[in-house]
Amino acid sequence: MNVRKAISEALPSFAETILDQGSEISSKLDMLRFEKFPPNAQKSLRLFTLAEVADFVGVSQSYLKKLHLQGKGVEPTTVTASGRRYYTAEQMDELRALLDRQPHRKGSEKLQVIAVVNFKGGSGKTTTSAHLAQYLALSGYRVLAVDLDPQASLTALYGIQPELDEKPSFYETLRYDEKRRPITDIIQPTNFPNLDIVPANLELQEYEYETPLAMQRKDTTDGKLFYTRIGTALTDVDDRYDVVVVDCPPQLGYLTLTALTAATSVLITVHPQMLDIMSMSQFLLMLGDILKSIEGAGVSVSLDWFRYLITRYEPMDIPQQQMVGFMQSMFAQHMMRNHMVKSTAVSDAGLTKQTLYEVERSQFSPATYDRARESTDAVNAEVAELMRKAWGR
Ligand SMILES: Nc1ncnc2c1ncn2[C@@H]1O[C@H](COP(=O)(O)OP(=O)(O)OP(=O)(O)O)[C@@H](O)[C@H]1O
Ligand SMILES: [Mg+2]
Repeated sequence: MNVRKAISEALPSFAETILDQGSEISSKLDMLRFEKFPPNAQKSLRLFTLAEVADFVGVSQSYLKKLHLQGKGVEPTTVTASGRRYYTAEQMDELRALLDRQPHRKGSEKLQVIAVVNFKGGSGKTTTSAHLAQYLALSGYRVLAVDLDPQASLTALYGIQPELDEKPSFYETLRYDEKRRPITDIIQPTNFPNLDIVPANLELQEYEYETPLAMQRKDTTDGKLFYTRIGTALTDVDDRYDVVVVDCPPQLGYLTLTALTAATSVLITVHPQMLDIMSMSQFLLMLGDILKSIEGAGVSVSLDWFRYLITRYEPMDIPQQQMVGFMQSMFAQHMMRNHMVKSTAVSDAGLTKQTLYEVERSQFSPATYDRARESTDAVNAEVAELMRKAWGR
């Protein structure tokens, strides 16, 4: 036997090694997550300042103070010695109801389904989806966040661990066999009032393999209907929500396509760097081709609006400014006016599985937090405006 072959037989193969290492990482991570976040532990939500409440309810601070003096408003949960008032998110809702300022859709206003896409990994899809869904919920809209990424980053943000908690994921609704369950079985509440989530898990990846098989099967119409799978699932809860925010996986597979065909609007997140923009142009070309062939099959994707959103923007970075200018010169009417700036407040919050709406301002230097919030709120308010326009308001 030659020596090299003898050595290679003695060592574990690459496949064996990565399987061992994968399962070691996975079990250690489970232990870590279990310690940090025991299954079924409820995430709580911080209190909101008078200024935040005024913004989210859409009235002035002085008006709220006046109501309070007249004994007509909602009693804040906490009033500090210096007179600062803090409200829970539920109290913000109570106040909105009292003032008859709920923004729920009415009559012919149709459910908005916003898909957040790009096949470039790390372009800010999950961060954008999470902040948008929470902002809209705090503004009084009834929101359903859908995690369509098998990596389940958005799900993890809510402390849901489908594997550990034995919670069903969206796969149970999308699957093609008789084990399929309605979306109402899958939806979970979150720590935000007005915000529910459809969790993801690794199993969702099966949808990518099962869809082409279902399409080949002659005995079923399921395959042909893959485009309408999310749209059909959502009809069961159409009257419960105003808007659905779908966080897509970083790939142009059946999951993303199914989201796009259910969407009434699309946000394409772009980090303004040459390589990211090159990758995005590939994404657009591939997507365009696929959508054309889907149209050939009789399913058309017609959107109320679509926009490019610049993410992790560094205004002082000249090459980034040039890239934004480059995009602006080509698709001005499809660019979001507001950009999401890069901020350590966003990435630090992410480390503890939180968003800017969850962390306390006092954890950061006020200027850092305020700058990040201003940029995020401006982006989200712009989306809310597009949504209201689509409703004809
Ligand atoms: N505005 C921001 N400022 C600072 N860091 C950010 C910002 N937006 C996103 N990040 C960080 O960039 C990383 C990638 O963001 P995110 O997970 O939202 O991207 P993604 O497109 O969802 O990634 P994937 O393609 O893997 O799903 C995260 O670590 C996140 O904390
Ligand atoms: Mg993501």
